[in-house]
Amino acid sequence: MTKMADNGSSVEIVEGCRLPVLRKNQEHEDEWPLAEILSVKEVSSRKLFYVHYIDFNKRLDEWVTGDRLDMKKLQFPKKEAKTPTKNGLPGSRPSSPEREVKRKVETVPLATQVPPATPVPSLPSSAEASQASVFPAVRETTTFKAREDHEPISSLTTNGTARRLIPPQPGRKRKANCGGTDEDSQDSSDGIPTAPRMTGSLVSDRSHDDIVTRMKNIECIELGRHRLKPWYFSPYPQELTALPILYLCEFCLKYLKSLKCLQRHLTKCNLRHPPGNEIYRKGTISFFEIDGRKNKTYSQNLCLLAKCFLDHKTLYYDTDPFLFYVMTEYDSKGFHIVGYFSKEKESTEDYNVACILTLPPYQRRGYGKLLIEFSYELSKVEGKTGTPEKPLSDLGLLSYRSYWSQTILEILMDLKPDNGERPQITINEISEITSVKKEDVISTLQYLNLINYYKGQYILTLSEDIVEGHERAMQKRHLRIDPKCLHFTPKDWSKRGKW
Ligand code: ACO
Ligand code: ZN
Repeated sequence: MTKMADNGSSVEIVEGCRLPVLRKNQEHEDEWPLAEILSVKEVSSRKLFYVHYIDFNKRLDEWVTGDRLDMKKLQFPKKEAKTPTKNGLPGSRPSSPEREVKRKVETVPLATQVPPATPVPSLPSSAEASQASVFPAVRETTTFKAREDHEPISSLTTNGTARRLIPPQPGRKRKANCGGTDEDSQDSSDGIPTAPRMTGSLVSDRSHDDIVTRMKNIECIELGRHRLKPWYFSPYPQELTALPILYLCEFCLKYLKSLKCLQRHLTKCNLRHPPGNEIYRKGTISFFEIDGRKNKTYSQNLCLLAKCFLDHKTLYYDTDPFLFYVMTEYDSKGFHIVGYFSKEKESTEDYNVACILTLPPYQRRGYGKLLIEFSYELSKVEGKTGTPEKPLSDLGLLSYRSYWSQTILEILMDLKPDNGERPQITINEISEITSVKKEDVISTLQYLNLINYYKGQYILTLSEDIVEGHERAMQKRHLRIDPKCLHFTPKDWSKRGKW
């Protein structure tokens, strides 16, 4: 409970209060969106308020001073209404990824978030679709015909279940300095408080999750030459959350509480690349495949780092069932981590990515799409189609939509007329060529609004705008995976006993 003077009167600001808060915006003008007070603290007799901007992604939550609160419009929390959960899924508004869509929409399955297709009641059943044909890919309005094997839109639901994060276990062993040994997840010798106890369970109850994880807890992470500002809570040991900077070894990802400890660690750590096998190299870009069972400490430390930027995903303490694909950029100092994705060794739901991340200093430079492209190249070698685990974050959805759109358009535009007839292709064929799961092909075609119903047939129509937009986008897409540089043999994990 906090009292705050405003125009001479004393007003109590408590958790759950709502009021407009000044949001300083680097890209646009400052604004005063409605925000909720999540926490209040006093630092040097000055009140600070942790606010969540209601319609914005949680990564923008922040501590603000009292002068940024519009006290005239203060709303008190309703007595019975508890602070709503802060673990709602991030929104997905392409035009403004920082702003959240209303929670009601957030739970809508992926396929229903996309704009409806042209006046077609549903995608064709296989019987109808087998009648369809494809128009040639020419510069003016171009149409294609889908031949067969679509599913009705109503069946395109995605599994929205997210496994939850396990909050830190109190009372873990810790060390006060850089010496000594340790029994736990971070290996020995640097005396760093250990991560929460690792457990095989991926489930925790939402209410606990809410209290523990709703606020970012790490101020800043130093990783090689980068300083990262976390977006979300990550269960690093509580003792480390008070530090102004948490230091990570950029190669083994071990966390250390001071620069001195890091320097001492670096004298002993001789890794200059992630552990595991380098399965891809082209130019300065490499991918390392890491087995979550064989390299547990690294995998757990990677998950802790990743959780700082992933709100709605599980933190996989039990890393055994996962492979981690870490993308690096090489220079004379070593192979520097740029991003990664994790992947279940066996997925009954055809997931080919569990979590995916580009570290913030590298974001919006095409690396996310490169990671996605790599994940589908692996699926191609496996001879499977795949899809990312749901739910996708707002930025995840933007990136996947962009990748799927470009991949599908690339194929449609390469189709050659068939004896002067419109080229034909089926959804299944697109899916087989790209390894993109059929549902994602369909939702992308709908999103791009390419599907038309014409004289009893389903036809894909490419407008000049779409064609030109695609060509422009592809000219900017410099980073591509070269399948020739991939050295990957898939393993049959079902035959390996317990991983
Ligand atoms: N605002 C608007 N558009 C964006 C933004 C943004 N902040 N970030 C990415 N995009 C768009 C890009 O414009 C691009 O589309 P375009 O080529 O059509 O213009 C597309 O998304 C991909 O951009 P990249 O530069 O290739 O992707 P990036 O390296 O930034 O990585 C990623 C994307 C991995 C989603 C990154 O934002 C990230 O790590 N976010 C935090 C973690 C996260 O949300 N991961 C996905 C969770 S879902 C899952 O794990 C299955
Ligand atoms: Zn190290």
